[in-house]
Amino acid sequence: MSRKNLQAAPPALFPAAAERRRIDDWLTTALIEASSRVQTGPVTPTIDITKFRDELAAQDFNQPRELQEVLSWTIERMQTGLVQMGNPRYFGLFNPAATFPAQCADRIASLFNPQLASSASSPVPVELESHVIRAVGRRAGLADAVSGHFATGGSEANYTALICALTKGHPEFATRGTQAYQGPLRFYTSRECHIAWLKIAHQAGVGRAALRLVNTDGRGQLDPEALRRMIAEDRALGAVPIMVVATAGTTGGGMVDPLSVCAEIARAEGMWYHVDAAWGGAALASERLRGLLRGIEKADSITIDAHKWLATTMGCAMFITTHGSLLSEAFHCSTSFMPSSVSGIDPYLNSVQWSRRFIGLRLFLALSVAGWEGLAAHVERSVEVVDLIKQRLLERGWSVANASGLAVLDVLPPAGSEAVRSLVRQVVASGRAWVAPTSFEGRDVVRICVTHGETSAADVDELVAALNDYAASQ
Ligand SMILES: Cc1ncc(COP(=O)(O)O)c(C=O)c1O
Repeated sequence: MSRKNLQAAPPALFPAAAERRRIDDWLTTALIEASSRVQTGPVTPTIDITKFRDELAAQDFNQPRELQEVLSWTIERMQTGLVQMGNPRYFGLFNPAATFPAQCADRIASLFNPQLASSASSPVPVELESHVIRAVGRRAGLADAVSGHFATGGSEANYTALICALTKGHPEFATRGTQAYQGPLRFYTSRECHIAWLKIAHQAGVGRAALRLVNTDGRGQLDPEALRRMIAEDRALGAVPIMVVATAGTTGGGMVDPLSVCAEIARAEGMWYHVDAAWGGAALASERLRGLLRGIEKADSITIDAHKWLATTMGCAMFITTHGSLLSEAFHCSTSFMPSSVSGIDPYLNSVQWSRRFIGLRLFLALSVAGWEGLAAHVERSVEVVDLIKQRLLERGWSVANASGLAVLDVLPPAGSEAVRSLVRQVVASGRAWVAPTSFEGRDVVRICVTHGETSAADVDELVAALNDYAASQ
């Protein structure tokens, strides 16, 4: 049999080992240098996006470029073309400066590129992820039989909770969908929830009207009496309540709903109880702070995003439940091409995704090298930084709108200052710090969240100075 001469693999895609090493070494140094420039540079993008579009338009991919040149160009544009989570004066929307172990995890995952759909394809990664999920579930105080999986984000994990609630709620939901139910479906969470629940209701097919936003108590926490009343009213109208969602760390104010009372209401009404601890779940690491989440152990399921306060790279959420068999029921299917089909183990049979990246390694490495104690120190430090900001602003006549105990501060400038939205716009445009405007219990506030593990007292001074400068600028 004659041997066919195969073409060489394109070297631009699969360079020789020595060239890979050269580029890799160069890239490592370039990234370290970029990271230190990001830490001291402006927080906000400075790029002229019109010029950038022209640059892109000139790239028709007919003229290959050198890899090092394109990498250098990309790093340069990243440095000026985005809000910098790696800057310690980013006091933003829960997006962290990623920990170094999490970044190492991404390099390893990129190299091996394992397929985590099946336990036969990736026995070690699948076991490792389950181990982390069980450890976090136990930390939350859930019963021993904890299961779950990593997900792309809190939205996917929360969507999974709704699917579990629907599957548990009626034995025929799997085949007949929402028609199996006797009336329109309803689920409940507070007005201060993360509003992706609307999209979740839409995509799950229960309709956006199924989401019932329960009043809060004036302090940003779900009002249990309002919840009880709403459920009773809905039942009287022939609707079918299926799930209560409590938020442990609201997006706007970092408030924790009354978790135990919500659990009791859900139990008494025969409903699924989910705790959305996408951001606040990190407080479980800290002996000092975990008491704020008391009641989370009563949940049927929990969402925790490691890519928020646990500071992994994006996106690295966890869906954790004590009803593993329900996940298998909701996501089962069978096909001959998959290398394994073990109910309760193979991720593709227990979750929304099929092909999946090895993301759990990020939290595994962080936990392995820092331990719970190290993560606790990270979380507690953020709260200390928030306390320092609070103190500095109170001294200058600002007031605080929320009483969170976690690392989000909602503040109002002194009377007669620039309006909140305009003041925030000016702070952000200056590049000196990044904060957000939000509405907390009906009032416009400046939202300050500590998301960077290395924010210093000097960074706090600069934030406070910027806020004061623009508050007085009208
Ligand atoms: C409480 C809460 N739940 C859910 C989400 C959505 O998570 P993700 O952005 O990871 O989809 C967020 C995002 O900030 C959140 O704060």
